[in-house]
Amino acid sequence: MAREPFLAGNWKMYKTGDEAVKFIEELKPLIRGLDDRRTALAAPATALRQAAEAAAGSGLIVGAQNLHWAQEGAYTGEISASMIKAAGATMVILGHSERRQFFGDDDALVAKKLAAALAAGLLPVVCLGENLAEREAGRAFEVLAAQLQGSLAGATPEAVAGLVLAYEPVWAIGTGRTATAEQAQQAHEFLRGRLAELFGRPAAEATRILYGGSVKPDNAKSLMERPDIDGVLVGGASLKADSFAKIVRYDA
Ligand code: PGA
Repeated sequence: MAREPFLAGNWKMYKTGDEAVKFIEELKPLIRGLDDRRTALAAPATALRQAAEAAAGSGLIVGAQNLHWAQEGAYTGEISASMIKAAGATMVILGHSERRQFFGDDDALVAKKLAAALAAGLLPVVCLGENLAEREAGRAFEVLAAQLQGSLAGATPEAVAGLVLAYEPVWAIGTGRTATAEQAQQAHEFLRGRLAELFGRPAAEATRILYGGSVKPDNAKSLMERPDIDGVLVGGASLKADSFAKIVRYDA
């Protein structure tokens, strides 16, 4: 079965609730009728409810960018999966490289967060990727294999089949330096092979694997043409409705 293309924006720490609504109202007509793919936006927690209300009925998925693994508790400043759901969101990004780099999210923590997301019925987008030193040392695939195994520890093949993975080489995020479509394809093919070893071929064939790192309207199509690249996770170019719409319409 062919995997459904998945085009996701990650707004990071940009956009208030009102700004999110304005963006979504602008985006909706630009992507209307594209029923062969899924479009998603990860908004700041404070904008989730307004974003979810603006997106209602459009098919647009709204998600959070992180969660805490506990259901509730004395964790000042944190937000749980059930709170994200109650705000109207249905997706969550986990293990983004900025979380890994600045907030101590390691593979074991990502695995705990993944379990919480799955238990709440949120669609997880699990991010991983090597940094520049690791790539230059020829260790990219070794790092990816360890991140994959650690971040998905404890997940069932059924869960893995349904989730979204995002390969985001750290050296390509926000740098304007995109991995070539060929470099990305090689990493995706490697990850799918590892998924097959860990969770079985049927699960691996179902998992959607996104590429992220300086995706722009002019490189989205060549990435999407590669067999193991099922979608993109877009930071900077997802902040304006027209550029994000061009990425969502990559083949139009
Ligand atoms: P970028 O960010 O598109 O701005 O490189 C991608 C990401 O961090 O998800």
